[in-house]
Amino acid sequence: MTSRYLSIEGIARRFSAGGKRTTVFEDLWFAMDKGDFACIIGHSGCGKTTVLNILAGLDAPDDGVVAVDGKAIEGPSLDRAVIFQSHALLPWRTVLGNVSYAVSSRHPRWSRDQVRAHALKFIELVGLKGSETKHPAELSGGMKQRVGIARALSIEPKILLMDEPFSALDALTRGTLQDEVRRICLETAQTVFMITHDVDEAIYLADRIVLMTNGPEAVIAEIVENPLPRDRRRLDIHKQPDFYAVRNHLIDFLVERSRTFKASLPDGYQRRHPPRVRPSAAPNPTPDGDARAA
Ligand SMILES: Nc1ncnc2c1ncn2[C@@H]1O[C@H](COP(=O)(O)OP(=O)(O)O)[C@@H](O)[C@H]1O
Ligand SMILES: [Mg+2]
Repeated sequence: MTSRYLSIEGIARRFSAGGKRTTVFEDLWFAMDKGDFACIIGHSGCGKTTVLNILAGLDAPDDGVVAVDGKAIEGPSLDRAVIFQSHALLPWRTVLGNVSYAVSSRHPRWSRDQVRAHALKFIELVGLKGSETKHPAELSGGMKQRVGIARALSIEPKILLMDEPFSALDALTRGTLQDEVRRICLETAQTVFMITHDVDEAIYLADRIVLMTNGPEAVIAEIVENPLPRDRRRLDIHKQPDFYAVRNHLIDFLVERSRTFKASLPDGYQRRHPPRVRPSAAPNPTPDGDARAA
């Protein structure tokens, strides 16, 4: 076993339907260090949610293992919190009640006051101070998502898993929540694995972007290292010199290479060590003319 904080080691997932067996992916490898923020991008059906469910312990791989902090994952755990596109908030509980419920599962011995103080801290962190006593039915979609984020963060998980968490929100709310999630994750050095189909969201949030080819039998084509500075800001990110280089690289992958990559694997391609690429606007200094190579 490797010593990385999160390590996906040669996992496979196959489903049988109507007597036919489909391999979603096999021999998939990926690793993250503590505090990394990784996004995975790929077309619908390539297996992103399947990977996330395996990380969450909600599904198990047919081959291979996944380990977090040196321990193989066996089923769901409060070490890993999941934020989905829409939230299963408990409708009969208030905002405070929903977050407190998660906190008291994590810390069953804590007193009511301790649970309450801890829950309030995270409610405040996501900007919901003043709405503690509201019920989910009284909240907008964005506010519900904030409760989901507060609930996930309040258990202080080793890994935060997010499956297209902002895709159901309007653009303004999405932007604000992206800002908050980025701020909180940087402040708390939270390790995050997130699925998105939004290229700009990935560039703003992620340190590394995993490119997955179309399914079935999807492979990780590349790991894209985000070339933008850590102190990037959402509103003027497009003025960063490398922004269009990385954006075009991701879009080019989604439009073209996600489909064709497998038919023309690069020389020396290894599933265990997919190429690491750092798109840049700077002229390519290497003589072989591949501006994408790091
Ligand atoms: N429980 C299941 N039973 C059968 N097939 C499944 C199941 N879950 C996922 N799949 C199939 O696995 C593939 C990957 O699904 P998924 O991980 O949801 O893709 P993505 O999240 O990238 O859109 C799809 O072809 C889907 O139909
Ligand atoms: Mg999905």
